[in-house]
Amino acid sequence: MNLKAIDHLEFYVEDARKAAHFYSSTFGFRVLGESGPETGVVGRRSFLLQLGTMRMVVTEALTAHDSAAEYVARHGEGVKDIALLTQNVEEAFEEAVRGGARPVSEPTVLMGEVSRLFRATVAAPMGDSLHTFVQSEGRESVFMPPLFREAQGFTTPDVAPFVGLDHLAICLAPGTLAKTSRFYQEVFGFTETHEENVRSEYSGMNSKVVQNANGRIVFPMMEPAPDCKRRSQIEEFLEFHGGAGVQHLALLSGDIAASIRALRTRNVNFLDIPGTYYDVLEERVGKLEVEKSLLREFGILADRDASGLLLQIFTRSMHSRRTLFFEVVQRLNARGFGGGNIRALYEAKERDQARSA
Ligand code: FE2
Repeated sequence: MNLKAIDHLEFYVEDARKAAHFYSSTFGFRVLGESGPETGVVGRRSFLLQLGTMRMVVTEALTAHDSAAEYVARHGEGVKDIALLTQNVEEAFEEAVRGGARPVSEPTVLMGEVSRLFRATVAAPMGDSLHTFVQSEGRESVFMPPLFREAQGFTTPDVAPFVGLDHLAICLAPGTLAKTSRFYQEVFGFTETHEENVRSEYSGMNSKVVQNANGRIVFPMMEPAPDCKRRSQIEEFLEFHGGAGVQHLALLSGDIAASIRALRTRNVNFLDIPGTYYDVLEERVGKLEVEKSLLREFGILADRDASGLLLQIFTRSMHSRRTLFFEVVQRLNARGFGGGNIRALYEAKERDQARSA
C-alpha cells in the first residue's frame, strides 16, 4: 500500500470555534477555512488549521445524535481520524478491508472546479479511531470551496518555529501492541523501526514504533506492562479516554528553546524535569552539541541515537480528562524518539500523578 504522508488529523471537539481559537492562539496554527451549514455541510461545523506542513481539522457535532457528539461524550475531545495521503484510494481501501480493517465509508469522489478528490475510510486498529485515505488530483483539496470557505475572525500570534508534525503516539490496551504493529506492517506496509520495554520500580510499558517507507508517517505505540504494582500513565489514559487512542502529538521545531519560550508566554505548562537528570546527562548521551545550561533552563530532555541528538519536551495535559498532551522535538540529525528518556518521562509523569492524587 503506497501511503505517502499524514494528510490531516481530525479532532472531534465540544466547540469547534473555541478549539480553533485555542490551537491558533497557543501553538500558532493558522485557521484557513471553516465548513458547516453555511457551506452545505449538514449537522457539523469544522475549522481547518495549518501549522507548517501539518493540517488539522477540528469538528463539532451540531446535533446530539451525531457520531462526533457520541465520540466526545465517550472519550472527551480527541483525535478521531488520522487521514493518510495515497496515490490510489480505491486500492488502499480494498487492501485494508482485505487485510481485516472494518470498512466505514466506501470510496467517493468530490468534484472541485479544477480537480477531483477521492476519499474512503476504514476503522483504525485502535479504539474508535479511523483512517481516511485521501487522494487529490489537481490543485484543490477537500478543504477548498465549496466544502470549506475562508475562516473569519482569527488572528494568529507570532508563529513559534514549528515545522510540522513529527510523530503521533498511540496508547493501546494491554496485550494488543504486537497485534497492532503486525497490522500496520502487513496491511499498510509499514516497518517496525524501534522497540523498547521499560520497567520502573512500580510500573512499566512496552513500546514499538511503526513507520511508512519515506518516514513521514510515524506511530510510536505503547501498552502497559502486565503485573505492575501501580497504575501506569498508559492505564490512566486508557481509563479516562475510554480505550485506545492518540496520546500525544509531537511537533517538530527548528528551535526548541524559542518554541518553549513562545508556548510558555501562552500559558502552556511543561513537565518538570528533576535537576539530577542534567547532572548525569553527558554520561548517558556524551558530549552535547548544545549548551547544557540551555537544556536545564528550559527543562529540555536529550537523547542520542546512531544518527544524532534528539531534544524533546512534554507539555502537561491541557485536556480536561488529562489524556492528550503535546511534545516538542528538535532533531540534530537524530532519528529516534527519545527511548532513553522514556524512563525520565515516566518518572516525571509519575511525580505529576502523585502531586495531583
Ligand atoms: Fe513522542
